[in-house]
Amino acid sequence: MGEVIAISNQKGGVGKTMTSVSLSACLALHGKKVLLVDLDPQGHSTKAFGYRNMNEYPLSMKDVIISVIEDVEIDKNQLILHSDEGVDIVPSNISLAGINSKLDSAMCRETVVKRFLDTVKDDYDYIIIDTNPSLDNLPINALTASDKVIITVQAEPYGVEGMADLLKSIHMVQRNLNSQLKIEGIFITMTDERTNLSKKITQSVKRNFGNHIKIFDVTIPRCTKAAESTGVGESIFKYDPKGSATKAYEKLTREVFLNTEKEHKRHRDTYVR
Ligand SMILES: Nc1ncnc2c1ncn2[C@@H]1O[C@H](COP(=O)(O)OP(=O)(O)O)[C@@H](O)[C@H]1O
Ligand SMILES: [Mg+2]
Repeated sequence: MGEVIAISNQKGGVGKTMTSVSLSACLALHGKKVLLVDLDPQGHSTKAFGYRNMNEYPLSMKDVIISVIEDVEIDKNQLILHSDEGVDIVPSNISLAGINSKLDSAMCRETVVKRFLDTVKDDYDYIIIDTNPSLDNLPINALTASDKVIITVQAEPYGVEGMADLLKSIHMVQRNLNSQLKIEGIFITMTDERTNLSKKITQSVKRNFGNHIKIFDVTIPRCTKAAESTGVGESIFKYDPKGSATKAYEKLTREVFLNTEKEHKRHRDTYVR
């Protein structure tokens, strides 16, 4: 059964989408079956794999939510898009923005996304959820549906601002909605080696949260080609395979997913013997 990972931070522009797209593309390159769920009405993850126009696909996350609320099945063959990088996508677009009022009045509104993902989990090794910058129904749905959450923090002076609120929401979800949810860790994006700001942010994150949350040693450098890739409709693994951000995301993918897989396999093998 697929593992579900939410990429979270209620701030915008901190690298959530870049991370969701890059981890998905890298996992697919390693032969994993990956579903990227775009849970942001801005639809940036959807566009990142070339689906720029909502007329190019018949169904999206909005239809998923309506189908769950109305308890009717959605046609997954029509819903799930495929990319030539091997990643499957549940697309989103601006039509998702109007769904909050519908979600507000829905029964068990926090579990709507989970109820959908439970029907596709068996088809994937990993399901990555890219979230919108808020702490409203959508990210709460993402956290409720996930096994793990990864928090991205941008290397900028106010990078950790708002983190306490995010952690409060995560703890609330852990206590009331999803006791399985694990905070996998925090990592810093868009670092610039020419300044020592990144080091300061890393130190500040470690000082404030390092006691109980893992702070990844891998950080993602700011890199022009990574910024460019966003407008091209390709992940950095395709657009800039040898780039510094690409290498860093490869390292992160190994650390978060592939090494854990190896570890599990070793445990299983030992147990069988
Ligand atoms: N490592 C990076 N190097 C350069 N630009 C980046 C990098 N990561 C993200 N960006 C750019 O920064 C902007 C915000 O990143 P994004 O992933 O969309 O953030 P979020 O999803 O949190 O709003 C985007 O334009 C993206 O292309
Ligand atoms: Mg985004």
